[in-house]
Amino acid sequence: MPVTTAKIKEMKQRGEKVAMLTAYDYATAKMIDAAGIPLILVGDSLGMVVLGYDSTLPVTMEDMLHHTKAVTRGVKEALVIGDMPFMSYHLSTEQALSNAARFMQEGGAKAVKLEGGVTVAEKVKRLTDCGIPVMGHIGLTPQSVHQLGGYKIQGKTKEAARRLFEDALSLEQAGAFSIVLETVPAALAALISKKLSIPTIGIGAGAGCDGQVQVVSDLLGSFTDFVPKHAKQYARLADIMSTAFRQYMKEVQEGAFPTEEQSFKMDESFLEGL
Ligand code: KIV
Repeated sequence: MPVTTAKIKEMKQRGEKVAMLTAYDYATAKMIDAAGIPLILVGDSLGMVVLGYDSTLPVTMEDMLHHTKAVTRGVKEALVIGDMPFMSYHLSTEQALSNAARFMQEGGAKAVKLEGGVTVAEKVKRLTDCGIPVMGHIGLTPQSVHQLGGYKIQGKTKEAARRLFEDALSLEQAGAFSIVLETVPAALAALISKKLSIPTIGIGAGAGCDGQVQVVSDLLGSFTDFVPKHAKQYARLADIMSTAFRQYMKEVQEGAFPTEEQSFKMDESFLEGL
C-alpha cells in the first residue's frame, strides 16, 4: 500500500520511528523502497553527492526534476518528496506554487520540502491549501549556508532555541505534515518533537526526533569527499567500488576479461571469404 502523509502522522501517534533516506536515481530508489523505508527524499544534496558542486546552491529545478522522475519510476510504495532548490520558492508564493506543482505533475513526487520557518510559513499554507503536502526544514538550512556563516550547529543559545521553536510551530500551523530538524542540539530537537503533533525527522538532531533522515551516499560510504559528524556508514561502498574498478582494469590489460562466458557465438563458416 502506498505510504501517505496521514500514515506518517499516525506513526508518530503510535510512537513508531520514521526512517527516511535520500535517493537520486532509479536503481537506488527501487532498493530503498523494497527495503520498506516509507519516506524517500530527492534531496538537493544531489548537488554535492551526485553533481560534484561544493554546495546545494547551483542546483536547478531542471536538475531536481530529472532526478525526481528517475526516483519515482523506481518506487511503488514509499512517499517521494521533492526538495525545492535554492530560489525556486523564494521569489513569490506564485513561484513556489508553480514549482511545487512541477514536482508533482512532471516529477511524480507526492510532496515537496522547502527550507525555512516563520519566513516561509505563508507559502507553506498556500501550498497545503492547494493540496500539496509540504515537509518543512529548519535548523541548519544548507541553502542559507552563506547567511549562516558555514555548516554550523543551530539553536544553541536561548534566543536561537526560541526562534527555532517558533519556526517549528509556524510550520505546523501552516499545515506542514512533517519537519526536518538539521544539526540542532539533541535536547532542543527532543523538546520540539514533544511539543509538535506532526513528526520531526532529524539529521544531526539526536534520538529524540520522531524519525531520522540520512543522505544515502553517506550511509553507503560511497561519497568520500567528506563524512559529516551526523552520518553513520552502514557500508563502505567506495572501497568495494575502487577494488572492482582496479580489478576490471587489470583483467582488461591482461586479456583475462572478457572470457567465453561474456562472449557470443556464431557459425564461423559465415566468416569465410569476408
Ligand atoms: O538535501 C538533502 O539531502 C536534505 C536532507 C539532508 C534533509 O535536505
